[in-house]
Amino acid sequence: MRVLSGERIWPPPMWLMRQAGRYLPEYRATRDKAGSFLSLCYNAELATEVTLQPIRRFGFDAAILFSDILVVPHALGQSVRFEAGEGPRLDPVATAQAFAGIREEIDLQLLAPVLETVERVAAALPAQTTFLGFCGAPWTVATYMVAGQGTEDQGPARQLAYTDPALFGAIIDRLVRASITYLVAQLKRGVDAVQVFDTWAGILPDAEFDRWVIAPTKAIVDGVRAEVPGARIIGFPRGAGARLQRYAAGTGVDGVGLDWTADGAYVRSEVQTRVAVQGNVDPLVLIAGGEALDRAVDAAIAAYGHGPWIFNLGHGITPNAPIAHVERMIARVRASTGPV
Ligand code: CP3
Repeated sequence: MRVLSGERIWPPPMWLMRQAGRYLPEYRATRDKAGSFLSLCYNAELATEVTLQPIRRFGFDAAILFSDILVVPHALGQSVRFEAGEGPRLDPVATAQAFAGIREEIDLQLLAPVLETVERVAAALPAQTTFLGFCGAPWTVATYMVAGQGTEDQGPARQLAYTDPALFGAIIDRLVRASITYLVAQLKRGVDAVQVFDTWAGILPDAEFDRWVIAPTKAIVDGVRAEVPGARIIGFPRGAGARLQRYAAGTGVDGVGLDWTADGAYVRSEVQTRVAVQGNVDPLVLIAGGEALDRAVDAAIAAYGHGPWIFNLGHGITPNAPIAHVERMIARVRASTGPV
């Protein structure tokens, strides 16, 4: 929270995207007990357990609510399933007819177990551990709503945004409103700050980036802060590259998540002078371990250690990341005396 208000602290606080996940044997055991991924998201007792698992094991400085960005379309009335090994499947919303079946307001009743998880985790976390809530950014969530699944190039959503901008804009507006309601509920129930995941931000041309990434994210930031003054918000526009400065200035977020392709010199002079940054070690270097991992950690320290910085990966940890390598990375960050 101090870093998000612009302070540099050393060693940097750290957590990992997808830190509650399949690389942990205790996560796999709890998911098996829940039956499926979505039933785990909607089981407050077990979702609390998996949220806390990486905190107990590694002592991370932040816990992130265990849930998924696709519970929002689910709570807007869209059918959402997770097929083992295949990822999410939704009944596509790509026509005015299908959109007519989408609720005006998010159904917080359906999300009651998630909000109960927030309360349980907030009560159980050590006082020094920050608790992060989250939602998907409208653009990224819309890519799944429109395509009905993950795609290589987000073609269906990009296409719809050109062919029927009124319909696509209506989907985005619905998501903006739902996301504000959902994030405010998380903040009121006990999260300290929230992250907005825009995994597919980088795939858009410049003008579309402004229209479908920056403008809706700014609307969420403003809408949340209207109800929770001073709410701390991290944005993660993956792949934004040279548009990170525009994103930070245009959205009003307190922190920007960096993917592993970020240009360190550019970020340090154009982004970190304005907001805190978070990231950005390549998750695949965690599989290699050893000196490759040490070099990547040192490079991140050299690039971002001079200013307000939260250590993280550049995207989610992968299921095949060895736990011993995670431990090595944590130890190296915590033992670091800072950038040279
Ligand atoms: O970070 C955390 O530990 C908190 C929980 C969290 C999950 N997903 C758990 C999850 C968060 C914050 C997310 C965000 C999310 N979900 C994003 C944005 C960030 C990113 O990773 O790009 C996206 C695009 C999704 C949608 C989603 N969820 C996909 C495409 C998939 C399938 C791919 C995969 O990794 O299996 C999921 C499933 C998912 N979400 C898992 C977890 C732990 C794996 C499910 C399992 O246990 O089988």
